[in-house]
Amino acid sequence: MTDRVETSAGAIERAVAALRSGGLIALPTETVYGLGADASNDDAVRRVFEVKGRPSDHPLIVHIADATQLELWAASVSPTAQLLADAFWPGPLTLLVERSSSVSPVVTGGRPTVGIRVPDHPVALELLRAFGGGVAAPSANRFGRVSPTTAAHVIADLGNDVDVVLDGGPCRVGVESTIVDLTGDVPVVLRAGGVSVDRLEEVLGHSVEVHVSAEPSNAGARASGMLEAHYAPNAKVVLATERELVEVMIGVLRSASGPVGLLAESSLVGLPEDIVELEPAGTADEYAAVLYSRLRQADRLGLAVLVCVPPPAVGVGLAVNDRLRRAAASS
Ligand code: TXA
Ligand code: MG
Repeated sequence: MTDRVETSAGAIERAVAALRSGGLIALPTETVYGLGADASNDDAVRRVFEVKGRPSDHPLIVHIADATQLELWAASVSPTAQLLADAFWPGPLTLLVERSSSVSPVVTGGRPTVGIRVPDHPVALELLRAFGGGVAAPSANRFGRVSPTTAAHVIADLGNDVDVVLDGGPCRVGVESTIVDLTGDVPVVLRAGGVSVDRLEEVLGHSVEVHVSAEPSNAGARASGMLEAHYAPNAKVVLATERELVEVMIGVLRSASGPVGLLAESSLVGLPEDIVELEPAGTADEYAAVLYSRLRQADRLGLAVLVCVPPPAVGVGLAVNDRLRRAAASS
């Protein structure tokens, strides 16, 4: 039975006890909710893969309480890793580093590298400090589905498979962390996320490579763990710029087998009637924060197609564009 706890007294203790006994917890972070297990307990980590329905060679991110623990998980801490950790942790940045020999290959999907981050959420931090160890956690959704940004989303997806759900309210950022691979000669962004490429370059003092692709066939071997190319609702997702919107809408309306919805930054005029207009998503930051809720809403409304007008692909808008393209590619 899932022990649904709010932020009540004793909630953290119950979650820590669950982790210590090899159980699974859901924890709020600033990006999305995670499905967590004790990263040093192979059986518990295997359960995460099972519950999520995720192939066992897709590595998990290890969440830690603060940057000083990085040396426990990384084979060595490079000046670049230290610089980025100091600048962005706690925060939506995952560092990919060579793993230390004590990190279980079950967590890393057999790879020599491990993804590490310190989440910026008071409940997650309180939990990690009380637990003391690392928590291996993918997003708390079934494999390939839309990531959860509220405790209710987690319960709807994973229900009784989680022992304790910590409710930390809606996630502030709303899209996953930026993943930076530090194992090569230059830092490479493998997933656009809550930390913008501009901010990374500002802190590093030079440009970074960005290998972010919504096309699975273009993903290189290093990024093969990124093939979770879905983030997809049941509704078919169709992308359109504001200029081509009316034309796209008319085409979609002609062929759709059910209701057609629209998600855009702002309210638009001159649209065909009988379009189900979802509440506008707002600026790029706001768009990121509400994106996954809106995709879930499209399914609740039984939409056959959701036409989305992405925000400009700058700042966190890059991550929103990436997720929308993946959703469109897999629907
Ligand atoms: O914001 C986030 O990062 C959230 C919260 C819960 O922290 N977590 C998250 O985890 O998005 P997940 O498992 O849904 O996505 C992690 C991505 C996966 O595509 C995985 O393959 C990749 O990171 N990844 C993790 N460790 C890796 C490694 N050692 N090498 C290559 N890719 C890795
Ligand atoms: Mg995920």
